[in-house]
Parts: sequence; structure tokens; C-alpha cells
Amino acid sequence: MAAEWLIKVNNRFHGALNFHRDAADLFWFLSLPGFAMLHEYQLAVEALCQRKLKKFITEVTGMLVVDGLPIRAGMSEIVKGKIRTKIEPTFRWNMLKKSWEAYEEWERETLAEYEVIAKELSNDGYLVEYSYILKIVNEVNEELNHLRGILIEMSGMDWDISTISDMQEAMQEKYEYKLREMHKRHKKYHHFNSIE
Ligand SMILES: [Fe+2]
Repeated sequence: MAAEWLIKVNNRFHGALNFHRDAADLFWFLSLPGFAMLHEYQLAVEALCQRKLKKFITEVTGMLVVDGLPIRAGMSEIVKGKIRTKIEPTFRWNMLKKSWEAYEEWERETLAEYEVIAKELSNDGYLVEYSYILKIVNEVNEELNHLRGILIEMSGMDWDISTISDMQEAMQEKYEYKLREMHKRHKKYHHFNSIE
């Protein structure tokens, strides 16, 4: 049934929101505001997508589906109880690297899961649902390519912390701008009004 596939996507979205929220918290904690803002922006974009998807599910199934909320703890669990001025530089460096690797892994697995779902929907002839999920697949693909670009850049400099720190101000400004633009685009931000 199409509904089961759509619910799987909806529930994974909650995992995605959890991931971005957690990563933003971690990067604020690590005093890397450019990366924190990148995740704040993704959190806002994906929250809007999830709300639209949920409304779409109600429209096509005629049912109100209860959300499956994630229980998985994120990276920030590792820094629980620590004070940021007292953490070792090596620990900070490791957290930074691990968080980016976890981001790549999360989006790669998400893409694979959504691609399988899109294929199932297409095979079963649910074309409206298929084209909706295909749009989400393309967005995840775009996000993955973008983050891989940053990852390659950082691996290429062997995660040089002073260069990475220098990148932060410009990145923070970029994602603050994108977030503001997103809110401007969706003047009627409430999800009932933001559906095209
Ligand atoms: Fe994402």
C-alpha cells in the first residue's frame, strides 16, 4: 500500500530533523557557527518539507497518520556534561570530523531508503505518490552532493582547524541569509498556508 511507504518517509524525516537539530547544537557547542548555521538552515528546510509531506499523506490516504518519533540519540550525547572551554583540542577535532562523517552517512542512507521507496511506488503504479517522493529524492541528492563538496574540501586540508575556523564567519553569514530568504519566500510560514 502506498500509505505504508509514505509513512516510512515521514518517519525518517523526523530522524532527519533530530539529526540536524543535534548537529546544530553540537557545532554551537564547539564554537563553529558556520557549521551550526548550516544545520539550522537544513532543519528549517526539512521541517517545512515534513509538514508538507504530512499534509500530502492525509490528502492521498484520507487518514491521519500518527508520527513515529525517533528515539536514537545523536552526537551531542558524547559531549553531555562537558564544558566547552575545558575540552581538549583533539577531542574537539575528533567531534568535528565524526559529525561530518555521520552527516554524510545519514544522508547517504536516507537517499538509498527513499530511492527504494520511490521504486516500489512506481512499480505498484502509485504515480502521484511516486512523483512526490521523487522530488524529495532529488532534494536529498542535492544536499548530499553539497555536503560531500565540503567534506572533500576539509579532508583535502586534513581537517586543519585554523582554516576551518576561518571559514566559519562567511558560512554563518551565507546560511543566515539563506534562512532569511526562505522565510521571505514562505511569508505565510504556517504549514497550512505554505502548501503550494
Ligand atoms: Fe538533511
